[in-house]
Amino acid sequence: MAPRKIIIDTDPGQDDAFAILLALASPEDLEVLGICAVAGNVPLALTQRNSRIVCELAGRREVRVFAGCEAPLKRKLVTAEYVHGKTGLDGPVLAEPTMPLQPGHAVDFIIDTLRREPVGTVTLCPLGPLTNIATAFLKAPDIVGRVQEIVLMGGAYFEVGNVTPTAEFNIYVDPEAAEIVFKSGVPLVVMPLDVTHKALTSRRWIEGLRSMGTEVGRVAADWADFFERFDVSKYGSDGGPLHDPCVIAYLINPDLFTGRRINVEIETRSELTLGMTVADWWGVTGRPANALFMGALDARGFFDLLTERLARL
Ligand code: RIB
Ligand code: CA
Repeated sequence: MAPRKIIIDTDPGQDDAFAILLALASPEDLEVLGICAVAGNVPLALTQRNSRIVCELAGRREVRVFAGCEAPLKRKLVTAEYVHGKTGLDGPVLAEPTMPLQPGHAVDFIIDTLRREPVGTVTLCPLGPLTNIATAFLKAPDIVGRVQEIVLMGGAYFEVGNVTPTAEFNIYVDPEAAEIVFKSGVPLVVMPLDVTHKALTSRRWIEGLRSMGTEVGRVAADWADFFERFDVSKYGSDGGPLHDPCVIAYLINPDLFTGRRINVEIETRSELTLGMTVADWWGVTGRPANALFMGALDARGFFDLLTERLARL
């Protein structure tokens, strides 16, 4: 079967970096048409730089990287240097990228690609705030019906929020964009904290990366070491949650995940619960299901896949 065509929309972030590496290490499964940077974990100037650093680390200098939106649709940008460090990829010492940033805006790349590729053949993989995706839908409504599926990392329900008591970071940063995407009618697969908090790194797994003896293994281990410290201290968890690679792992092996098709709406008015994914897990509203909302993960299978693919780079 031909590899699935995807566009990765991202705000690297160490966990985004793992997701991008996993995608680029899986050419038999995924054809990465382009990578779109968005402001999120750190400002756009860094997320576009970091996207190129990860592509170069994977030995894929030909991948097209575009800069997208530098601020949410209606709100001031909220960043997460307290989690990812001031560069967004803190941990290892990294050289500046030398591969080019593509001319043109990421939103126009998304629009042009969806108009060019056959209907229903391109999957969007947002790993950060949904600003680029929503902006593309607003600018070119004709592309909405052309999207095969959106598989995104964002939201939380039973696991509650990580940036406020009710909101997960990607949704909280741009709730208006999330509302547009969740109401778009595009088939959605959602990887909320409910499932990503089960993708916890371990010392043994990180040491396994280091023992690969490759540049990718060393850098990835340094990222994992740095990334886990925040969640370990905040949640007392045994390791750091690899949120964004859940999106790519699902595309490669959906059987690693289980969830439920439910209605999910986004809180955009209440300051108290702004950015909450109001997940109707028990079907009490009668609102139509718009998302496959994941809740369970085969963690052993997930990390085995990640190890096997990273070892290829
Ligand atoms: O809440 C976790 C999400 O926010 C991840 O995508 C992480 O990279 C940050 O963007
Ligand atoms: Ca991210």
